[in-house]
This record gives sequence, structure tokens and C-alpha cells, in this order.
Amino acid sequence: MISTLLSRMHGTDGDRTPRLLYGADYNPEQWPRSVWQDDVRLMREAGVNVVSVGIFSWASLQPAPDAWDFGWLDEVMDLLHEGGVGVDLATATASPPPWLTTAHPEILPVTSTGETLWPGARQHWRPTSPVFRRHALRLVRELAARYAGHPALVAWHVNNELGCHNVYDYSDDAARAFRDWLRARYGTLEALNHAWGTAFWSQRYTEWEQILPPRLAASHPNPTQQLDFKRFSSDALKDHLRAEREILREITPDVPVTTNFMVMGGTKGMDYPDWAAEIDFVSNDHYVRPGPQDRDELSFSANLTSGISAGRPWFLMEHSTSAVNWQPVNVAKRPGDLARDSLLHVAHGADAVCFFQWRQSAAGAEKYHSAMVPHAGEDSDLFRAVRDLGATLKALAPLAGSEREAAPVGILYDWQSWWASEQDSHPTSLLDYRQEALDWYSAFLALGVRADLVTRHGDLNRHQVLVAPVLHVVPADLAEALTRYTDQGGHLVTTYFSGIVDENDHVWLGGYPGALRDLLGIRIEEFGPLVAGDEVTLDGPATGTLWTDRITVTAPDTEVLAHYRSGTYRGRPAVTRRPTGGGSATYVSTRLGTRGLTSLLPRLLEPAGVRSDLPAEARGLVETTVRRGPDARFRFLVNRTDDTVTVPGLTGDALLGTLAADGTLTLAPRAVAVLRQPLA
Ligand code: GLA
Ligand code: GLA
Repeated sequence: MISTLLSRMHGTDGDRTPRLLYGADYNPEQWPRSVWQDDVRLMREAGVNVVSVGIFSWASLQPAPDAWDFGWLDEVMDLLHEGGVGVDLATATASPPPWLTTAHPEILPVTSTGETLWPGARQHWRPTSPVFRRHALRLVRELAARYAGHPALVAWHVNNELGCHNVYDYSDDAARAFRDWLRARYGTLEALNHAWGTAFWSQRYTEWEQILPPRLAASHPNPTQQLDFKRFSSDALKDHLRAEREILREITPDVPVTTNFMVMGGTKGMDYPDWAAEIDFVSNDHYVRPGPQDRDELSFSANLTSGISAGRPWFLMEHSTSAVNWQPVNVAKRPGDLARDSLLHVAHGADAVCFFQWRQSAAGAEKYHSAMVPHAGEDSDLFRAVRDLGATLKALAPLAGSEREAAPVGILYDWQSWWASEQDSHPTSLLDYRQEALDWYSAFLALGVRADLVTRHGDLNRHQVLVAPVLHVVPADLAEALTRYTDQGGHLVTTYFSGIVDENDHVWLGGYPGALRDLLGIRIEEFGPLVAGDEVTLDGPATGTLWTDRITVTAPDTEVLAHYRSGTYRGRPAVTRRPTGGGSATYVSTRLGTRGLTSLLPRLLEPAGVRSDLPAEARGLVETTVRRGPDARFRFLVNRTDDTVTVPGLTGDALLGTLAADGTLTLAPRAVAVLRQPLA
């Protein structure tokens, strides 16, 4: 739990008041010693109380196989401690040094086309290399033993963004480990042959050694082989995480362990809901990709991180003060973005707000990536904004440790369906699982209705409405759980390409949507995907793209909420709802996008009685979340717009922002307010 870390933080200066953490990745090895003193001075000025150190320090700590150099890190740890800054100490295993890759080129990853990923950048290691593992664990043991009792140490940071660049490795090591993983999953070749459907295209295996990762092939590789390789690759990294963690727990059982996840657009290889149980608190990195939904996406990612953390507070390990260096065009943040972006993470449960990185590098691939101390130095608008944010986070200290209060709506985000639905040889290659989920989320934001991103590991029954977009993989037990949910009064909403396959990616026969057919009271004989640019109209103002279904209503009580008005399926049902024991099961057969969903949703929410808890004039303009502590709820109100917004009818005392005596809140463009409401 993050509370373990917070109590260690308190230990660093004896002060027991709750606080939020504030800081950055700190890479002192890039700077002469003279800068270090200045760093600590500025950290104090900014209110920084935690930094992550050593993330890319392997070559500095172990300059040769049997040479260690901890002197500089000892000094840095002492300096930070004296400055009242706690250290989230990295295990430094993210980027193997040149001496290691020269001696052991067999640790380098190999792509599906057989190319080696050479050293020269970072994360050039095979997750399954026994040689890499041995060297990495030796480093972890040395570090843990050396800093075990250091008073600055508040948490361990395993590796860095595991899988950022090396999640898929097709090397011979990977092939061997994949076979072991398959043996453990299936037991016998017969079971594997069945699961993979190898009767197709003469793929039947008669020896384990015949099995390979899905390397570049003449045509579509076996789909279940591809899906299992995704599962295996996530597990291989999880295994590395565990191996490092075991050493840390053995040597420093009281120091919490984390690793920074990458719940953000563009990352899908790591099954984080499955990893969360392996660490003591969840950490996330997030970077904004400029675009029409960029801040919705930020909110979505933060919300999903909270879901992965089961509603408990989590640690924002990295985001940026302004531009990054790795997008095609690296757009600077506008005034107010830095604070609002950070506070939106806090609104969704972050108890720590950290950046990559503390001081902007003068050299290297990330020299144009923003930092807390920019190239311009402390006399800069950016550093002033950093200082202001430090003061704001201090004022928000009372909410540290508070958890997410369940929203009336849950949106189920399912890694298995994400992986499987986007595989090749499908009805369309245009399906984008994350985008579909994000569009639903944006529609809830537009209506001012709170919705929690949840995973299969969460308790679905907490929500009156459960939206499961493209829930493609539905094993029998999930179908049963969803049926129980609706029988007990829950309102399920699902979409096209849901309920189609089981855990082996085998189609549920008898008509789509297979596993959910009876629950939904419909039957589909054929999919009608749409080519890019093609659209169909529905009753009401909505337009569908990407997908349509030829639906037949099969249950007498299934209601048709909207028909197709154009296209091949003109006149047939497009959106259906079947009442169940107290709840309902709704099916949306096309991609409506945020606008279409915003107009449809009020109808879908009606039977559940779910509506916005914002006054009408603020809906869509303001995002609201609630965190709940032992004695109070903390209500966040985030201005999503570039205009001033007024929200009447509020109660509570303002931790941030100014609430007028008549309960009216005025939010400046991009401003955030937090109201504390005591619990009776
Ligand atoms: C990732 C890494 C950092 C840094 C940033 C840049 O999040 O963890 O080391 O490269 O990206 O955005
Ligand atoms: C990922 C990371 C970024 C950056 C890029 C580099 O997206 O999150 O921070 O490191 O990779 O390509």
C-alpha cells in the first residue's frame, strides 16, 4: 500500500501530518557534483519531497563485471536525506551497460523478422535471458544490501517501464521460455493442439520443440498462438518483476516495492491488472498526446490506473511539465496545463505527482524533453509553475490516503478482449479497442456522469450500470457473472464484436454474440463491417461507422431502441435492450463515436436512474470525481474548457478554489477546485 510509503516518508523528518508526494526522476550522474547542492536547494524551494534515483545508473554503479562504484550514490542519498527528500530507489536494471552486451550479445532482443535490437539506446535485453537475469539480480542484491538501512530510502522502483521497448522478443530464449509457459498452461500437446485449433492449415504439433513464437510467417500466424504469445510476453516481464522483488523483500522486508506502469495511449503489451498484485503500490507514467481528446485520454488513463489499483491511492511516477521529445511534433503545454494535468491525476487517486525529470538534460536523446528545472534555469515561468504546484499539493495534504468513491457507472476495460479483438484475419482491421472505450468515457464526461474504469479483477456489482465495449473474449464464467449481475438488478451495456470467443479464441457457435446471445435476447447471423469513410444512419441524430450487425430479435421482451435508417440492414434493429430480473442487457451494434453516444446514453441510463450529479449548466464543461477518506469526501471539480465556468449549488469547504457563501464556484479556465465535505 502507498500508506507504507507515506509512513516511511514521515519517518524521514518525523512529521506525521498527511501529505501528497511531489518530485521527479533525478539523474545526478548526468551532472557535476556542484549542481547537486543546487538541485537540493531548488527541490526544497519547489516543495519536492520524493525523487526516483538510479533508474539508468547501471553503468555508473558497476563500471566493470567486478567493479562497483557506490560512492557517488552514497553522497546523493545523504544529500537528499539532509534536504528532507525521500528516495524511491531504482534497481538500475533498465539499461544494461556496454561491457555486459559486449560480453553477452545473447541477451539482446530479436524482432519477429529476426533482427537484433542492438545496444546504444536502452532496454536492450530479453525478458527471458537467463544471462541477463543473473547479472540484473546480482546488481539488485548489491544495491539492496548497500542501502537497506539508509534513512532516505522510502520505496524500491523495480527496473523502469518494464516492456516499454522490449515486450515482444522472438529470440531462441523466448522460444524456450514460451514452450515452458505452454507446457504449464496446457499440460499436454493434445490440449495445446485443441486450444490452438491446429487441425487448420496442417499445424498439428507432435513435439514441444516444434513450437515457436509467432515469427514472421508466410501468412497470418495461428491466432491462438498469437494470443498466447501476448499472454506469455506479459507474464515473462511479470516474472522478471517478481524475481527482483523477491530479493528486495528478502533484504528489506519493510520497504514497499513498486514498478512504473504505462497506462496510456500507445501501450498495450502488459496486462497491468494481472501485475498489480505483485507490487506494494501501483505507480503509473502518463504522457499527453496532443489531439481532440487529449485531456479525456489523460482522465481515462488516470481513472483506469485507479481501477487497476482497486480504488486505492496510487503513485504518478512520471508525466511531463511541458513537451516531450518522442512525438512527431512535441507540443509545449499551455499556461495552466501543468497544474491541471497533475491535479486531474490526483482527482483520480494519485497521492504522488512526479515528473520525468528533475533537471532537463544538456545531452542525450531526451535533451529536448521538458523537466521541472528547464534549460532556462530557475528564472523561468516553468519553474515558477512548478513551485506553485508544490504549494497547491501542500494545501491538498488532507486528502492523502483517501480512496475512490464508487461511481454509478463502471466501464469494463478488459486486456484479453483488447488483445484478441485487434488481432489480424478478423472482419475488420480498423477496430480500435481503446478508442471505443475512450469514446464511451468521453460521452460520460460530456454528460457530467461519473464513470469508473474497472477491470475483470474488480467488483462489478458496485456499479448500477456496467458498460463493456467490445467485450470480445467471454469465457463461460464471465458470461455467468454478467448474467448474475443483470439478474441482481445491474444494467449491462455491450457493443459489437462482444461475446464472440472463449479464452482459446474459439467462436461460440449458434449465432453471435455467442456467449451473450441469450442474455441480450438477440441473434446475429452475419457481421456487416463498414469500409473506412462509410457510414449508416440510425433513428435519432446518430451515425454509425466501422461495424453493423444483421440482428434478429429472439426474446419476446427484447425492445428495439433504434433501427438502422440506411445501409444494408436498413429497417433492422441497431440498438436493443432486454429487461432481466430487475436489470437489463443492452446491445449497441455499431460505432457511434462520442457524439452519437452522448445523444444515446441518457436513454440507456434511464432504467437505472443514473444521472449527473452536476448542475445542468456545468455538465460537460466540468469533470467531477470524488475521493473518500475516513471523515470526509473530497469532491474535485475540473474545468475542462478554456473559459470561465460557474457551478452553482455546491457545498463543502474549499481546499482549493473559492466557494462563495451561496455555494457558487467560479472556475477560471483550466482551473481545479477541491471541496471537502465532512461525512456525518
Ligand atoms: C518514459 C521513461 C523515462 C523517459 C520518459 C520520456 O516514461 O520512463 O525514462 O524516457 O519516458 O517521456
Ligand atoms: C514510450 C514511453 C515514452 C518514450 C517513448 C519512446 O511511449 O512512454 O516516454 O520513452 O516510448 O519511444
